[in-house]
Amino acid sequence: MYSVRELLEITESELASLAYPVSPDGLYAPMRYALEGGGKRIRPVLVLMGCNLFRESVTAARPAALAVEVFHNFTLLHDDIMDHSDTRRGKPSVYKKWNENTAILSGDMMLIYAYRLLNRCEESLVPRLLDAFNEIALGVCEGQQYDMDFETREDVSVDEYLEMIRLKTAVLLGGALQLGAICGGASAEQTELLYRFGLNIGLAFQLQDDLLDTYGDPAILGKPVGEDILAGKKNFLLSKALSMTDENGRIELLSLLRNQEMPAADKIAAVKAIYDRLDLKTITEQQIAAYFGNAFHTLEVLDIDSERLKPLRELASGLLNRQK
Ligand code: IPE
Ligand code: IPE
Ligand code: MG
Ligand code: MG
Ligand code: MG
Repeated sequence: MYSVRELLEITESELASLAYPVSPDGLYAPMRYALEGGGKRIRPVLVLMGCNLFRESVTAARPAALAVEVFHNFTLLHDDIMDHSDTRRGKPSVYKKWNENTAILSGDMMLIYAYRLLNRCEESLVPRLLDAFNEIALGVCEGQQYDMDFETREDVSVDEYLEMIRLKTAVLLGGALQLGAICGGASAEQTELLYRFGLNIGLAFQLQDDLLDTYGDPAILGKPVGEDILAGKKNFLLSKALSMTDENGRIELLSLLRNQEMPAADKIAAVKAIYDRLDLKTITEQQIAAYFGNAFHTLEVLDIDSERLKPLRELASGLLNRQK
């Protein structure tokens, strides 16, 4: 059985062994740049763990783990264009370092690479892996579309928000475990329970991402805070705030968000002051803890020796209070 650290090492060495053609440099250099470092590598580690729960060797899951990380980075290249995010992992985002066309096409290439990698899994497993992967990828894109649609809507409910993040973020974390479990030869029931575990961890993970966008430390986060506020993102804090305030509070918050004249830093500070007043930091932390509770409950139902589940618990616990 591998530790979290060992699985991270395997992931990094697999990523380092990815070969890119030399030209056209404008296509491959951004891919290398995006994949070379700084990411937490949660998803590929989840793939390897999903496999390792059922098999001593994780060899069968290596291409799927890589596929998932490459796919994730594809989504980030496009996400940063869509969100106008200039910085990621402490460096200029790809569209900023190069340009939008580069980020679009290199991103597309990464999606193709992801499928190529998946196709390198054991032949007998590929149809099932492909089916699962397609569902995950469709879900992520649907979630991203809802995220975009919600920017210009002022009546997004918390439930709609939760469905949006289930799609854009949680299905990939759940899906990572699902793909790993398939590689490991898990039963359909075990695979489903692990998927559900990952889904709950994924919901918590996106809530933490939203929380850090307002309350994080930019130096640790590797990007400025307040981007969601400036973009009018209906993230958890905003959709929850809108559900908690009376009509006057709602008008105050929405007119602040709509204000185009206000300097960015002032707008962020004013919205944050409203969040503080509503104690949204605590509320979000409680919601995150609740999803972790759901996730760990799923593990109790899973018929796997508790000792074997240790790395999965360790990884999930590490995410509970992540600062980046
Ligand atoms: C960022 O994911 C996108 C979200 C779903 C919130 P991560 O926070 O896992 O990004 P890296 O790969 O570690 O940078
Ligand atoms: C990202 O959500 C989800 C996907 C890329 C699919 P965010 O837009 O909140 O992620 P960050 O904050 O830019 O990493
Ligand atoms: Mg986004
Ligand atoms: Mg973004
Ligand atoms: Mg975010």
